[in-house]
Amino acid sequence: MDLGIKGDTALVVGASEGIGYESAKALLEEGADLLICSRNADNLKQAASRLKQATGRTVRWFAADVTKAADVVALKGWLEQQTEKLDILVSAVGGSQRALFEELDDDAWYANYEFNVMGAVRVIRASLDLLKKSAAGRIVILGAAGPRMPYPHQLVSNVHKAGLIALVKTLGVEFRPYNIRVNSVSPGRTMTGLWTRRIEALSQERGVPAEEIVNEFTHEIPMGRFATPDEIAPMVVFLASHKTSYVTCQSILVDGGIARGLI
Ligand SMILES: NC(=O)c1ccc[n+]([C@@H]2O[C@H](COP(=O)([O-])OP(=O)(O)OC[C@H]3O[C@@H](n4cnc5c(N)ncnc54)[C@H](OP(=O)(O)O)[C@@H]3O)[C@@H](O)[C@H]2O)c1
Repeated sequence: MDLGIKGDTALVVGASEGIGYESAKALLEEGADLLICSRNADNLKQAASRLKQATGRTVRWFAADVTKAADVVALKGWLEQQTEKLDILVSAVGGSQRALFEELDDDAWYANYEFNVMGAVRVIRASLDLLKKSAAGRIVILGAAGPRMPYPHQLVSNVHKAGLIALVKTLGVEFRPYNIRVNSVSPGRTMTGLWTRRIEALSQERGVPAEEIVNEFTHEIPMGRFATPDEIAPMVVFLASHKTSYVTCQSILVDGGIARGLI
């Protein structure tokens, strides 16, 4: 299937590893011109070189921490030097913090809000003028299955990722006059650095082998395993393509069946 994105300009934020990296790679493979961003310049350099090796294509990169407003203002300035328009924005920054209500103070709540909600808000703000110049802009935000089936111990991200879905549904309406579609991909448990770090920490904390922790988190997944990030990326690219021209304001689960609510 030709997704029709050859020659489109795309920005992927959170692209140095995990789902963002695989989404960037898949967009490159479909022929998009790619700009990537994450916090760490060394990670970005390595990602750009891996992408070049995998696809033969060159990507341009900029280091910015989306939890810092000034960094994202600088990202906007850089974007405007790089391109006259943006067709696709993918925001893949976010994550959860394992904690119960009584362990969370205001600072912990606000830090996770910056990470999961304000990061996306800021990159959308930084990209909007350029997205308006596209004939048909597409924004794809990485959400999570959590708000559809709130996991215990993941209170802050359950709450904040639910806020992201509200953001997507509201902006899809607000940006309609600019012909910009806004959607979200909501992954289930996906084996990226986010999980390898968590598994390692829990394994050390409990003094049990890592496989035991993996089994604990696998048994309730109908697919019987974690996803790999390259299984999430195709949905990101599909929503970022012209094949989904009538899809907006949606949050699409790619979760191996873990969130099984009827609505
Ligand atoms: N993995 C899962 O099981 C899962 C499940 C549900 C939802 N999700 C969502 O999917 C998205 C991607 O998750 P992932 O598992 O791929 O994460 P990951 O492997 O931890 O990768 C995160 C990426 O974001 C960058 N990043 C982190 N903090 C940043 C910041 N403050 N500013 C700019 N860039 C930043 C990282 O690079 P640098 O270190 O270079 O900044 C990296 O490129 C997130 O929104 C996450 O909440 C993941």
